Amino acid sequence: MKRQIQVTSSFSSYDVVIEEGLLSISETLKKYVSPLSSCFAIITDSDVGPLYARKLAEILHTLGFFSKIFTFPAGEKHKTRETKEFLEDQMLESGFGNDACVIALGGGVVSDVAGFLSSTYSRGIPWIIIPTSLLSMVDASIGGKCGVNTPFGKNLIGSVYHPKAVLMDLNVLHTLPLSEYKMGIVEMIKHGLIVEEEYFSFFEKNTKRLLQKEKETLGEAIYKSVCIKALIVQKEEKEKGIRNLLNFGHTVGHALETVSQNQLPHGLAVAMGIIAESYMATRCTSLSEESLERIIRIFHEYELDIFGNHSYSLQEIVQAMKYDKKSKSQVPHFVMIEKIGKSVAFEGKYCAPVDNEIVSSALQWMFARLEKTALLGR
Ligand SMILES: NC(=O)c1ccc[n+]([C@@H]2O[C@H](COP(=O)([O-])OP(=O)(O)OC[C@H]3O[C@@H](n4cnc5c(N)ncnc54)[C@H](O)[C@@H]3O)[C@@H](O)[C@H]2O)c1
Repeated sequence: MKRQIQVTSSFSSYDVVIEEGLLSISETLKKYVSPLSSCFAIITDSDVGPLYARKLAEILHTLGFFSKIFTFPAGEKHKTRETKEFLEDQMLESGFGNDACVIALGGGVVSDVAGFLSSTYSRGIPWIIIPTSLLSMVDASIGGKCGVNTPFGKNLIGSVYHPKAVLMDLNVLHTLPLSEYKMGIVEMIKHGLIVEEEYFSFFEKNTKRLLQKEKETLGEAIYKSVCIKALIVQKEEKEKGIRNLLNFGHTVGHALETVSQNQLPHGLAVAMGIIAESYMATRCTSLSEESLERIIRIFHEYELDIFGNHSYSLQEIVQAMKYDKKSKSQVPHFVMIEKIGKSVAFEGKYCAPVDNEIVSSALQWMFARLEKTALLGR
């Protein structure tokens, strides 16, 4: 079933289309690419490129357009200024000018690099995203943020540059490794936690179907998550601060990524962060212990690889949280929920500092609980 959402900001408005077989059926592609250019730079990575780039180039050729594939090595460590420069030089050498259009074909790393490149190439050329990971479908593709990492930190250099369209083909998810797929599931569960209990319950009820990537259920969930992220991003223009909500679990999560020297994948770090920050919420808001149990249970049901013994230093985590982007004068701030599906507004800031003792207890409790669950199997 085809689903469509319009994302609107004061700068732009674009469609997000979710369709099965979009990369085999040329109609949707034709509709969106035709008005933009006749010359396309397909930017992809070394994992996705061999699977889908040639197919896309063939469709574009059938439609009468010129395209060329530009590939860089897959992985977060290649989300750099050097990769952007390498791609730019390749495009310049191939004669791509200001009449060209970029198609980002890949996960969040590809869209972050390709979007940033599009925003500066020839002072800005249009771009389209064809996201291929679940995380990029429900998160990275929506909101226009793009950029690269530096040795000083993640996403420090970049821009906000909206694509002309986001075209999702559910069929590509069958080649996405399950471990990567689950990173998207974590962000989707987070969407339920911050704004809609019914959506959270959807994940409780459909665990098996979603773990099997059953298309109808997955399409419905992707649509819902895109709507939630789009709504929050759109509201941010009038209600500065509301975008912080998307950072639920991320204050602790980012710190865990840092202390693990990025060995802990982002999605797993966020899941652990959600548990720790939900514990804080049981101490600071009316979040019930039953709700906290439901949150732990859902991550267990989705078989996230977080249950077991972790040996991170609490002190290092607390230190790393001081550098979180929501921190004020090095005091970390946390997004809080007061019940599943309802977050706390904190006078429009949507995050707040938490007593040091509660933060330390939350981290200790979370680690102990992950170990206990692994031992008891629940
Ligand atoms: N701009 C934003 O608003 C935003 C939001 C969230 C995350 N991000 C960024 O997104 C990145 C993470 O995105 P990600 O999780 O997609 O990582 P990723 O792009 O590294 O993709 C994960 C891996 O899966 C592979 N892959 C992707 N689709 C595939 C498919 N269909 N079949 C087989 N392999 C496939 C990729 O090649 C890669 O090896 C991070 O850099 C993060 O900072 C950006």
